[in-house]
Amino acid sequence: MRIAVVGATGLVGKEILKVLEERKISITEFFPVASARSVGKKIVFSEKEYEVISIEDAIAEKPDIAIFSAGGSTSLKWAPKFAEVGTKVIDNSSAWRMDKSIPLVVPEINGAILKKDDLIVANPNCSTIQLVMALSPLHNMYNIKRLVISTYQAVSGSGVKAVNQLMNERTENSGEMAYPHKIDLNVIPHAGDFNSDGYTTEEIKLVNETNKILQSKISITATAVRVPVISGHSEAVNIEFENDFVIEEVKRLLGNMPGVVVFDFPEANLYPMPVIAHGKDEVMVGRIRRDNSQPSSLNLWIVSDNLRKGAATNAVQIAQYLMMNKLI
Ligand code: A2P
Repeated sequence: MRIAVVGATGLVGKEILKVLEERKISITEFFPVASARSVGKKIVFSEKEYEVISIEDAIAEKPDIAIFSAGGSTSLKWAPKFAEVGTKVIDNSSAWRMDKSIPLVVPEINGAILKKDDLIVANPNCSTIQLVMALSPLHNMYNIKRLVISTYQAVSGSGVKAVNQLMNERTENSGEMAYPHKIDLNVIPHAGDFNSDGYTTEEIKLVNETNKILQSKISITATAVRVPVISGHSEAVNIEFENDFVIEEVKRLLGNMPGVVVFDFPEANLYPMPVIAHGKDEVMVGRIRRDNSQPSSLNLWIVSDNLRKGAATNAVQIAQYLMMNKLI
């Protein structure tokens, strides 16, 4: 495979390189791409040094796959240009996710919808990926009616500028602000941009992307919150089902879902946390308990490394799925 990574110098881009190496994807040619200011910089991948190239030069190479993680506007403009030369694009941005003609894929859940003629494949939002990984086996069994989600999102989800803001504040240095407020020693109930109805783009993504992936019409409401954690998103999720459940069966269904780990030992003070999920590919689920306030309802706490399964790992898994199923 001849693979380009667009945004190779960014936080997610670097993680994509790591995951490609770890999974020993057989890459015959590799093209790291970034903005004009990084062209010519050196990048090490699989113990070899590469020079960062421009997006135009990468298109001229007609790679088999281009994994994009360079923001929505770059994807909107350039993904179709790769598609025109026959390159399959796996896009991490939100640019194409809700386009009816573009598959939105978490391979463990709906990899089977991928077809040979899909030229652009969308990688869901980080908070959505970890959510649907836990919800999918439960929805298949009990049919979800309603979801109430509160997220506790790490700053790395906002890119390198946000990580720098947190670290600068922590070390009492000055620097650029990624958020409208201080993030260290704070919690900001604002992730993404506000819409006129008072919801943020991160909240709307959770609603729309979840229903697209699960092919459902679940009533969903969400509050997305930024917390001073570098990586690892957490989610408190209240689920109302059509059909009732038994907690032991819920745990069994979650435990049998590939990529999900049940980590729920309150008696030993053990539950999923960002410090435990950091660097791992699994989605961790704990605090699994019945909501005693209404019928057929459940509470979960879901944690995953947003740079791994929430972004890089899922994108590389899509590439692997395409290769394994000869869709390239
Ligand atoms: P660069 O490092 O040259 O700015 P992050 O989300 O961590 O800030 O990373 C964004 C990534 O997207 C970086 O690799 C950045 O490159 C890259 N990028 C931004 N704009 C473009 C563009 N127009 N073309 C290609 N890569 C881009």
